[in-house]
Amino acid sequence: MIQVQPLEHTALRPTCDEDIAVFRRLTAGDRLERQTCRPIVDGKRMPLDARKQDFTFVVGDAPAGWVSLFNLNSRNQAAEFGYGLVKPMRGQGWGRHMLATAFDHFFATTDLNKLHCQTASFNTPSVRMLESLGLTRDGVLRAEHELDGELYDDFIYSLLRQEWLALRRSIPDAGLV
Ligand SMILES: CC(C)(COP(=O)(O)OP(=O)(O)OC[C@H]1O[C@@H](n2cnc3c(N)ncnc32)[C@H](O)[C@@H]1OP(=O)(O)O)[C@@H](O)C(=O)NCCC(=O)NCCS
Repeated sequence: MIQVQPLEHTALRPTCDEDIAVFRRLTAGDRLERQTCRPIVDGKRMPLDARKQDFTFVVGDAPAGWVSLFNLNSRNQAAEFGYGLVKPMRGQGWGRHMLATAFDHFFATTDLNKLHCQTASFNTPSVRMLESLGLTRDGVLRAEHELDGELYDDFIYSLLRQEWLALRRSIPDAGLV
């Protein structure tokens, strides 16, 4: 059990402007780059670029699925992606083909070094598809995903540019369909 001794003269209160002035003065010289992985502009940490870029995966003439790119981090050249297929296309391996096409496109047309995504642990098709494409499970977000009053884990997966280039060389195109 964690023992926490009650200390006299301690408290937690909402931060006020005077506190910020003290923090600035007494942390001068600390490198912000060591405290955040986010972009830093003029000495301030910036939010990720949440603007979503949407792509449609077309089979024949028909829109079959979507892949989105968002939460771009210009500092570490990473971005998050989301995806889905229309119902009639699910369960036939098209998801794998769609994501492989998207990874080819994103790494060819941007300077991104990492693509990452978050999926529910109970989403078996999604999890198996990502693992079969060679993505690495970076971590588990415990009790992250509420569904019908229950909390489930989410998984984070990622893929580095060099990994995809190496995987791409080892899988013939036909193997992706
Ligand atoms: C996730 C999605 C893109 C996967 O694409 P897909 O082409 O349907 O994937 P597949 O049907 O080929 O299935 C992928 C794997 O899951 C397995 N699978 C599919 N349904 C399953 C089920 N109900 N139980 C167990 N395994 C299942 C397949 O056998 C396959 O495994 P394998 O690679 O070991 O053979 C698609 O199902 C989808 O659009 N789902 C709804 C949207 C969504 O969940 N998006 C992700 C949000 S994070």
